[in-house]
Amino acid sequence: FSSSEELVLVDRRSSGIAVLTLNRPKALNALSDSLMRALAEKLQQVDADAALKAAVVTGTGKAFAAGADIKEMNSRSSYSDVRHDNMLAHWSAVSSIRKPIVAAVGGFALGGGCELAMSCDIIIASQAAKFGQPEIKLGTIPGVGGTQRLIRAIGKSKAMELVLTGEMLSAEEAEKAGLVSRVVPVGTELDAAVAVAEKIAGFSTPVAQLAKECVNASQEMSLAEGLRFERHLFHATWGLEDRKEGFEAFVAKRSPEWKHR
Ligand code: HXC
Repeated sequence: FSSSEELVLVDRRSSGIAVLTLNRPKALNALSDSLMRALAEKLQQVDADAALKAAVVTGTGKAFAAGADIKEMNSRSSYSDVRHDNMLAHWSAVSSIRKPIVAAVGGFALGGGCELAMSCDIIIASQAAKFGQPEIKLGTIPGVGGTQRLIRAIGKSKAMELVLTGEMLSAEEAEKAGLVSRVVPVGTELDAAVAVAEKIAGFSTPVAQLAKECVNASQEMSLAEGLRFERHLFHATWGLEDRKEGFEAFVAKRSPEWKHR
């Protein structure tokens, strides 16, 4: 990892996790193309690094991210331009990462910021977090999952209300609706997210990846297809050294020593 001129800061910890911090605080971490490319690149480096088991993505100050970069998007003037460039298509790189990603949201997660948080696997929010899809106020609609992942997270009526009114959900409302897994006091969201990532990092990496893949598959498949997919991956764990180790350790009443293989 290089450390100069960083739009995304990387803190690689000996506990087997990396903390990635979005770093455009003056623009409330508006997600420019270059920032999202840097984030994808760093997450791909985490995926490729055998010493790392999970990642945390967080923001700075009062924003996780206040959305895609409105000024940058405004420089595209026509449908033909944005279609040709396939604007924002590269954002899907985040959801191709195989290692678990925990989002620590301490402030605004709006538009593309909310969509980025939803592309992560677990969202931990501080009491000051705010979630919303305000694109309608700009005369556009969500473009990276705000009409798709949000409905799966909080149901149609609430998702529709957020998308059609542009209003925000407080952290407490987001927790009640099921968008976030936990709300913690202001300033403690990163520690809480790191603790969750470290807990995951303590288990077998291939098993955690299979579990993540299965849970995410449920968003794309019918129940019957999902159950079949799950059964196949469950059986596949019998091909892992760590499955054998986990079972043998239980039977021998000792702690497992994961080989991550
Ligand atoms: C570019 C942004 C930005 C954004 C904030 N800024 N959000 N720049 N893109 N999404 C910049 C502001 O222009 C300003 O820069 C600086 O950050 C501080 O913002 P303020 O507005 O002065 O802060 P504040 O008054 O505290 O208001 C915070 C806020 C507001 C409520 C979050 O900034 C806001 O409404 N932002 C836009 C939120 C939004 O619409 N997001 C969705 C984007 S569309 P200067 O230089 O003036 O100081 C989107 C498209 C999705 O995400 C399609 C697919 C991704």
